Amino acid sequence: MRQMLYLDNSATTKPDPAVLESYIKVTEQYYGNPSSLHGMGETAAQLVEMARKSAASYLNGSGKVIFTSGGTESNNLAIKGFAQSLRSRGNHLITTNIEHPSVLEVFRHLEKEGFAVTYLPVDEKGVISIDQLRSALKKETILVSIMHVNNEIGSVQPIGEAGSVIKNQSRAIFHVDAVQSFGKLPIDPDKAGIDALTLSAHKFHGLKGTGLIYLNTDQQLVSQMLGGSQEFGLRSGTVHTAGTVAMAKAMRLATEQLEKHRKHLIEGRDLLRAFFETREEAEVLSAEDQAPHILAVSVPLLKGEVVVHALEKKGVYLSTSSACSSRMTKQSHVLKALGLSDDVIKGAFRISLSHDVSLNDLEKFKKIWEEVIPPLLEGVKRNER
Ligand SMILES: Cc1ncc(COP(=O)(O)O)c(C=O)c1O
Repeated sequence: MRQMLYLDNSATTKPDPAVLESYIKVTEQYYGNPSSLHGMGETAAQLVEMARKSAASYLNGSGKVIFTSGGTESNNLAIKGFAQSLRSRGNHLITTNIEHPSVLEVFRHLEKEGFAVTYLPVDEKGVISIDQLRSALKKETILVSIMHVNNEIGSVQPIGEAGSVIKNQSRAIFHVDAVQSFGKLPIDPDKAGIDALTLSAHKFHGLKGTGLIYLNTDQQLVSQMLGGSQEFGLRSGTVHTAGTVAMAKAMRLATEQLEKHRKHLIEGRDLLRAFFETREEAEVLSAEDQAPHILAVSVPLLKGEVVVHALEKKGVYLSTSSACSSRMTKQSHVLKALGLSDDVIKGAFRISLSHDVSLNDLEKFKKIWEEVIPPLLEGVKRNER
């Protein structure tokens, strides 16, 4: 059988067998509803509380964990929830123009509801300026949301510095979408002045449909889901007991091995960077020393999807700029924000690594590239003649 090389780990990761094992065990044995009064319900509730406590401990803090269905729900709940609860204090919000759609679309929606939003630009590396954040903060600013690691190019925002500016200069809530950084970069919400943090388990070898918001503030937020008032009244719906346990397990595994995995990811990313720098058809879009697991590249003479499909025929799986926008024809807002030309944007694709991709796998990738891409380019050049 042809070997598969999965290089689309920012879209999702392979569940860790230990995580799956916990999930199956809890699903089979502890299926009582955690809200039920009887013993089976109580056992399930205890498991959820244990998962909540350990999830908080992997974020180094005493904040409160609210389990959700993933990154999109957490971002929606945190942003809408705080914007609505703090409206009497002001109506100004700040975010960046390279956020994930589950953040950007929420801000666009809030603008329609009368909030004023400042979208911070990024430099050519995809990083915001702390001075621009400082000047954007006003008396009426109630919420700032900045992603930690960008999902398309891997740029890393100066979250710690942003947090101290926000805390020193305003009363705004600071929300961070850490979906792409957890398990790859250390993150300490207390130290970074973060009030609310979004995580999604399937990005770090947990399961899809499981996520959380870590709340590190006493400030109330408005629930976006009405019903049975589970999760401290912030997220109605029967709690996904096995999902919470599996998420806490995935967090433990990711945290315990963070340094080892980070080192390995950096080696792989730099091996690929060095390779693409020797290829005259390719341009590396990710700046150096950003996220350890993401490398955005472009072949301006080809379309990103042509590269993706050609490599797929050889068992290599990667994405155009991001999994959620890759089926849409519109240009990536992130690559546009970097000021790249249309041809470079059109030819862009993303390689995203995981600790289970070996350096040997990447050597194989290089060979496959050399076999597959030059003939495609020859075809394009022939057609142009
Ligand atoms: C930065 C970022 N935020 C949020 C999300 C949404 O997460 P989920 O797939 O769990 O809804 C993603 C998913 O790609 C992401 O990369």
